[in-house]
Amino acid sequence: MSKNVLLLPGDGIGPEIVSEARKVLESVNAKFSLGLELSEAHLGGAAIDATGKPLPDETLAACKSADAILLGAVGGPKWDTNPDFAIRPEKGLLGIRSELELFGNLRPAILYPQLAHASTLKEEVVSGLDILIVRELTGGIYFGKPRGVREKEGGIREGYNTYVYDENEIRRIGRVAFEAARARNKKLCSVDKANVLEVTVLWREIMEELKAEYPDVELSHMYVDNAAMQLVRAPKQFDVIVTGNMFGDILSDAAAMLTGSIGMLPSASLDKNGKGMYEPCHGSAPDIAGQGKANPLATILSAAMMLRYSLDQGEAADAIEQAVSKVLDQGLRTPDILSAGMREVSTSEMGDAVVAALA
Ligand code: NAD
Ligand code: IPM
Ligand code: MN
Repeated sequence: MSKNVLLLPGDGIGPEIVSEARKVLESVNAKFSLGLELSEAHLGGAAIDATGKPLPDETLAACKSADAILLGAVGGPKWDTNPDFAIRPEKGLLGIRSELELFGNLRPAILYPQLAHASTLKEEVVSGLDILIVRELTGGIYFGKPRGVREKEGGIREGYNTYVYDENEIRRIGRVAFEAARARNKKLCSVDKANVLEVTVLWREIMEELKAEYPDVELSHMYVDNAAMQLVRAPKQFDVIVTGNMFGDILSDAAAMLTGSIGMLPSASLDKNGKGMYEPCHGSAPDIAGQGKANPLATILSAAMMLRYSLDQGEAADAIEQAVSKVLDQGLRTPDILSAGMREVSTSEMGDAVVAALA
């Protein structure tokens, strides 16, 4: 039975990294006879240029009918000054997350041992790191209403957003996190700002309530400012972290650096049935776009997550992850993870090396 995989290259380094992931997917497709049918659509700035909209109707329809989606990244300076905030590349990405109800964002920060000294942190702080950030992805301050910029008395402009979660939204992401913790080391840390924000007082209450359903999982709570500090002080104290949309966005970029580079952090964004979109956690990196410097491994590892979570192809996913490890063993490094004695390679040389390692 064939499976439709939709590729959304997007902007900046997006097309460069997605074409490396495509090579890898084509290779496992042939090797394991997966029956994947790959197609592509426009999203983000590329879609604005082609159609005037960051999420064209045909792209949304293709997302809905695909079995799984792999995204590069969207955004860039070309579109940052668009006076109409609705016509920004990022709106396209947020639109897919929201339309497909991809509320469960899994961001695993795993340090490949070969990169222990590529991290900016001391080797003993990060070696053996394997944590999972579960980020709520379709609610919170990203989507809360009202929002906008208005004029108040005296002609003073004020910008405003609303940080809101209802208990059902909290419960469903809580369950994703408890289940993930149960399948790992049974330690869940819920990150909030319950000392200041009522919305996260409710968040904490619901997490406590869920604990009764998961007596085998140890639940702790931490304020987000402390969590940011603890992540760089002693990240291995964590197993699974669950948090809201914006805190999760910020903490996962910090966690990415523990793995050596933001170019190493993949993600899965899942709906309640396990259908998902997969993407690296980083952005479109306009500063290095078009130079062959981007690390494609986060995208390639996202493709592995896609095979595992949405396409039930764990063996092919394992093969990709092992191939990545083998390439790192060979000493091949894109500039972001380069260290003394290693061989610098370009984006496409890295993709080719993963394909070769699969053979
Ligand atoms: P960014 O993640 O694009 O880049 C931050 C830094 O990390 C840059 O120095 C960049 O060169 C580097 N970097 C990122 N990915 C890399 C890779 N694969 N290999 C090597 N180095 C890499 O964040 P930013 O600069 O804040 O944002 C740039 C644009 O990307 C903005 O328009 C932003 O909205 C967008 N963005 C999109 C996504 C997404 O599509 N999921 C995520 C984050 C940011
Ligand atoms: C991410 C990105 C997005 C987010 C932006 C581009 C909308 O930073 O996927 O981490 O904030 O969720
Ligand atoms: Mn982000």
